[in-house]
Amino acid sequence: MDLGLLNKNVVITGGSKGLGRAVAEVFAHEKANVMINSRSQEHLDQAANDIYKNSGQRIHTHKGNVSDHDYPSKLFDQIKKTFGSLDILISNAGGPKPGKFESFSDQDWYDAIDLSMMSHIRLIRECLPLLRQSKTPSVLTITSFSAKQPIPNLILSNVLRAAAVGLTKTLSLELGSENIRFNSILPGWTKTERVTALLKNRAETNKTSITEEMEKITAEIPLARMAEPHEFANVAVFLTSPAASYLTGIMLTVDGGVVKSTF
Ligand SMILES: NC(=O)c1ccc[n+]([C@@H]2O[C@H](COP(=O)([O-])OP(=O)(O)OC[C@H]3O[C@@H](n4cnc5c(N)ncnc54)[C@H](OP(=O)(O)O)[C@@H]3O)[C@@H](O)[C@H]2O)c1
Repeated sequence: MDLGLLNKNVVITGGSKGLGRAVAEVFAHEKANVMINSRSQEHLDQAANDIYKNSGQRIHTHKGNVSDHDYPSKLFDQIKKTFGSLDILISNAGGPKPGKFESFSDQDWYDAIDLSMMSHIRLIRECLPLLRQSKTPSVLTITSFSAKQPIPNLILSNVLRAAAVGLTKTLSLELGSENIRFNSILPGWTKTERVTALLKNRAETNKTSITEEMEKITAEIPLARMAEPHEFANVAVFLTSPAASYLTGIMLTVDGGVVKSTF
């Protein structure tokens, strides 16, 4: 199947590592024009070099923190200068801190809101004028299965992913008549640095080992293992590609079956 991604302009925030980086690599193999963002130029250069080696495709980079109120407008300027228009926005970043309700201050909540909700709002708002110039505009928010099934010790994620999913669904309704597609992927447990950090935190809290914490998690997953980042990326690239032109408003769990509800 031709995904129709040749020379499409794609921006992936949080794209230097983990899920975002894996998505960037699949887009590069499809010969799309890719720009990745993250907070560290070193991480960005490393990812861009590795992806170039693997795919032969040059990757554009733009450093910045998507939690910063004024960063999305800077990214907009760079996209306009580099690509002129935008076909696909992947709105992604790191996840909020682990912890329980009573461990968080107001400031912790405001920081998590900036990271996991306002970043999507500001990025999408800034990018809409460029997306409107595309014949195949598409937006993907990367959220979490915590929107459907709360994860222990991750209250900030459990609350804010539900808001981001509500945002994505509402935009699919508001902007469908302009042919702009909005979808979200709610990843399950996938082997990235974030998950390594979460496992370490659980092992410290529960006075266990990382291996024991990994076994507890995989016991809850019908496919009995965590995902590899490329298994997430293949789905993300299809869902945002012109080949998925009739899919919008989808809140898709890519989770090995960990969410137990039928719908
Ligand atoms: N992996 C999973 O199992 C899983 C499951 C459910 C949900 N998720 C969610 O999916 C998203 C991606 O997860 P991941 O596992 O790929 O995380 P990760 O391994 O921590 O990678 C996060 C990426 O985002 C960048 N980043 C972090 N904060 C940023 C910010 N404020 N502004 C710009 N870039 C930022 C990081 O690079 P720099 O450090 O250079 O900024 C890195 O490239 C997270 O929101 C996570 O909570 C992941």
